[in-house]
Amino acid sequence: MFNASTYQQRRQKIQEKVGSGLLVFMGNEDSPMNYTDNIYPFRQDSDFLYCFGLSQPHLAAIIDIDKQETILFGDDLSVEYIVWMGPQAPIAEKAAAVGVEKTAPYSDLSRHLKQAQEAGQEIHYLPPYRTDNLLKLSEYLGKPIAQIREEASVSFIKAMVDVASIKEAAEIVEMEKALVVSQQMHHRAMQSAKAGMLESELVGIIEGIAIATGGRLAYPAILTINGQTLHNHVHSNRLQSGQMVLGDFGAEAPSSYASDITRTFPVDKRFTQQQKDIYNIVLKAEMDTIEALKPGVPFKDIHLLAARIIADGLQQLGLMKGNVEEAVQAGAHALFFPHGLGHMIGLDVHDMEGLGENYVGYDETVERSDQFGLKSLRLAKKLQTGFVLTIEPGIYFIPELIDQWQSEKKHEAFINYDALSNFRNFSGIRIEDNILITEDGHKILGPPIAKTIQEVEAMRG
Ligand code: GLY
Ligand code: MN
Ligand code: MN
Repeated sequence: MFNASTYQQRRQKIQEKVGSGLLVFMGNEDSPMNYTDNIYPFRQDSDFLYCFGLSQPHLAAIIDIDKQETILFGDDLSVEYIVWMGPQAPIAEKAAAVGVEKTAPYSDLSRHLKQAQEAGQEIHYLPPYRTDNLLKLSEYLGKPIAQIREEASVSFIKAMVDVASIKEAAEIVEMEKALVVSQQMHHRAMQSAKAGMLESELVGIIEGIAIATGGRLAYPAILTINGQTLHNHVHSNRLQSGQMVLGDFGAEAPSSYASDITRTFPVDKRFTQQQKDIYNIVLKAEMDTIEALKPGVPFKDIHLLAARIIADGLQQLGLMKGNVEEAVQAGAHALFFPHGLGHMIGLDVHDMEGLGENYVGYDETVERSDQFGLKSLRLAKKLQTGFVLTIEPGIYFIPELIDQWQSEKKHEAFINYDALSNFRNFSGIRIEDNILITEDGHKILGPPIAKTIQEVEAMRG
């Protein structure tokens, strides 16, 4: 947790941007796995956490901008509850720690909202992504669920995005802490893997490291020999000689800040020549696009730079053909690079995505494309000092996609389908780092994690 003035300043900035009305912050509840008392690990809502810093279930807050009043809603624990779950500091004490003077029982929230509604005050809430909060808002505001979804406050969303996109120095410290753990996780995975192991054995090792440091994974680990499946959460395969392991995993610090790192390494001690050829294209795309990062540059341009580097590299290997610029314009490279180059990161691995991807990554200067590949770009707008984002190019050989495009003769002018038969079982390579945009350029956050072929092979021993 940061000091009280950090939270006060954040709330002040947000209320000034919204201007008037009542802001509602819904904290998260415990989430049952299969019955009420058997719960998933608790994770506080990131917007609540950003503005109120308290990570426990059953809290909410309002900021009445018109009356200049902030209230934290929560209940002190009964002795009977303490018997099962242990003691907690009183709510008033917790509120004071984050600069809030006034508290009220949770059950008062509904009355406050009804009163504000009756007084004709505008009530601003953020898009509820958890069903409990959707149902509560529906009940408290007396509106059907569909209407609650539609009427999330755009001015509140935009204020949150504007303020939380610019990371404070203290937040960077937390993200670097997460990255120190992620470095250990990735290096240990590279050192531990061997043919015959299950993917899940590696997952156990890396998740154990995250938990041992008091944090956890920032998102379910992608750790797979089938790197061509972009968000692959299956861990039941056995590693075999000749394959590669794609590991996309990062620690969440105890403060809840995320990291998001990908490395790809061979199951054998060394990459094959074919693997090296593709690896070096991805590495060039990663390092050259990082080099191009600075304030004022539209991230869409950086994404397209990665696409050109990938198309150019694949052309040199004889897998693509024709004019590189035209191939990228047409979207032909997306057969191999079907996702976006990166996204914002902070308290969420895809930062603020609960508020709506387009509010975070797009603005009036840039519209979302509907072209396959480019449409998956989560961040396109101009970069600003203080943004933290990922750079994560990849090259994948997805047999189902290759077959579909080939049967449709799609982008035949740019793709050498005949040459792809040698790559059907290649899987995929992605390399991902987390980068801060600074006044004069950028900084790769965290300690270095083995990345060049030489570094990765040295780690494999
Ligand atoms: N870890 C998911 C992603 O890279 O976006
Ligand atoms: Mn990732
Ligand atoms: Mn990512």
